[in-house]
Amino acid sequence: MLAQNLGPTRTLPALDDTTPERQLPHLLAAALAARSRAYAPYSSFAVGAALLDEHGRIHSGCNVENAAYPEGLCAEAVALGALVLAGGTRVRAALVAADTAHGVTPCGGCRQKLREFADAGVPVWSADAHHVVARHTLGDLLPASFGPEHLGPR
Ligand code: THU
Repeated sequence: MLAQNLGPTRTLPALDDTTPERQLPHLLAAALAARSRAYAPYSSFAVGAALLDEHGRIHSGCNVENAAYPEGLCAEAVALGALVLAGGTRVRAALVAADTAHGVTPCGGCRQKLREFADAGVPVWSADAHHVVARHTLGDLLPASFGPEHLGPR
């Protein structure tokens, strides 16, 4: 599915392929398209994120800033909202795009938000304004993490 066809929606149809590496070009295209919609008048730092769900669908988001600065939303959080709204329950891969030499990794808060829906081995790719430039796993980015399973009985 081409990013140019993203239209008003932030979720692309299921491709029935949840293999992260095969979806990488689609994740990149979706994140770059989402980034072009960023509302970032305060930082001028546009970010796009794309998430692969357990059905092979891709959900994307951009950062949405606010005059009350701390109230801004990260691109990853917006994409997670789209995934949940579309009925997704798991994140199989993530990609974050911004115009920096080494790409961006999700901020600390977004690492925790992703942790809710993703296993430690899930790839988190970083892209600049054109290409993928780095790959981590969520476990690399958030080691020894706290998650929903810790809320159960001892
Ligand atoms: N931002 C994201 O959307 N995702 C990240 O991974 C890093 C930071 C946004 C937040 C804010 O709108 C701008 O980038 C500058 O921090």
